[in-house]
Amino acid sequence: MAARILMCPPDYYGIEYEINPWMDRRRPADHAAAVQQWNALRRLLSDASAAIETITPQPGLPDMVFTANAAMVFRKLAVLSHFRHPQRQGEEQHFAAWLEAHGFELLRLPGGIYFEGAGDALFCGETLFAGYRIRSDARGHQHVAERIGCRVIPLELVDPYYYHLDTCFCPLDRTTAAYYPPAFDAYGQRVLREMVPELIEVVEEEARRFACNAVVVGRTVVTNAGCPRLHAALQQRGFATRETPLDEFVKAGGSAKCLTLRLDGEEAAAWKDAP
Ligand code: ARG
Repeated sequence: MAARILMCPPDYYGIEYEINPWMDRRRPADHAAAVQQWNALRRLLSDASAAIETITPQPGLPDMVFTANAAMVFRKLAVLSHFRHPQRQGEEQHFAAWLEAHGFELLRLPGGIYFEGAGDALFCGETLFAGYRIRSDARGHQHVAERIGCRVIPLELVDPYYYHLDTCFCPLDRTTAAYYPPAFDAYGQRVLREMVPELIEVVEEEARRFACNAVVVGRTVVTNAGCPRLHAALQQRGFATRETPLDEFVKAGGSAKCLTLRLDGEEAAAWKDAP
């Protein structure tokens, strides 16, 4: 079955507020370049045989392009996000409406719990790895784990530049992941080393180019341009790698993976192929 990916066209994308250290209103996005980069990413993912679905962008919600934060998908269940920053909370109703209209069962976490979807909750094998503190609350992850009956490993994010788990950790298949160690505390680093059999370390220079924010479709991995060491490590392990410039989105603190939501489950999720 083809991979299904949700994207949101960048019609209203821009740097209109600052909610992470990458964003600076004095460094606005170039709209035409952003549109071109988004289209090129979409094309690469289609070429990798993913079916791309789109949600209608909304004026006044410039970060809605980052669909990874819409929800966390588990089979037909979508655990809806509740954003920490009011600037993004307006996106919640639009994502909820789209997911419901497309047949997902919606789960809302109890009031007051912040949860930023697949940006902070990623399956690798049977286990849900969940980033917390900067955006999502650890309480929310416990809730999700109980509801779907999986093991959750909470990982504290300690570097504000790597504020979502998908900026510093990328499951590639059930036993392989890439990570940027300094984004985690000593405990998190140890847990990842113990739990993921094949763990690839990303160097600082490439982490800053969002190497960990990769989209995985089958054995093809797509990242922002300028991550040669990660690409070499992936090729050694039998992955095909593709790169495409996404610097207009890095200005908002996002890259390839943030611009996508995998509707049929991450490639690395063990439940993905189960009936
Ligand atoms: N400007 C957005 C924010 O700070 C970027 C989101 C990137 N998304 C992600 N999944 N890492 O919320």
